[in-house]
Amino acid sequence: MEFISKTPEETEKIGEKVIKRYKPPCIFCLFGELGSGKTTFIRGAARYMGVTKVRSPTFLYIFIYNLPHVNLYHIDLYRITKTEEWNALGLDEYFSDKKGIIFIEWADRIRKLLPEKRVDVVFELIDEKRRKIIVKEKN
Ligand SMILES: Nc1ncnc2c1ncn2[C@@H]1O[C@H](COP(=O)(O)OP(=O)(O)OP(=O)(O)O)[C@@H](O)[C@H]1O
Ligand SMILES: [Mg+2]
Repeated sequence: MEFISKTPEETEKIGEKVIKRYKPPCIFCLFGELGSGKTTFIRGAARYMGVTKVRSPTFLYIFIYNLPHVNLYHIDLYRITKTEEWNALGLDEYFSDKKGIIFIEWADRIRKLLPEKRVDVVFELIDEKRRKIIVKEKN
């Protein structure tokens, strides 16, 4: 799937549209530079699932929202640089959650640890307002 977004609101809508197609367990790996819309996309998807306050996990690397049928994980690896740090994250436990819907910002930081079965979401900056969003299932 490929989308062009012209506003943050459109990016949220695209997040909603994409998440509607999936059930847990599911892992979304988000790629794209600073300000390309990753958190905005997650905000839209999370709102569809009933989470209204999505903050950017800038200092904490993860937020977990436990919902009745889903555990929503919002992981942001921007600050993770070294292998030792990845290993300390305990990601495997999250990845094996049958109720998990997992979003990983800056997933390229742990490329080697990413599961084969996942959905990649790539954000490209076209200009100040426009974003190209490419969603690709991997297996
Ligand atoms: N079409 C658009 N879609 C999403 N965001 C947009 C769009 N146009 C402008 N913006 C602006 O770009 C920024 C996107 O921020 P957001 O936090 O979603 O990016 P991010 O990819 O998560 O960045 P970071 O890597 O810092 O976490 C916001 O300031 C938003 O207002
Ligand atoms: Mg972000």
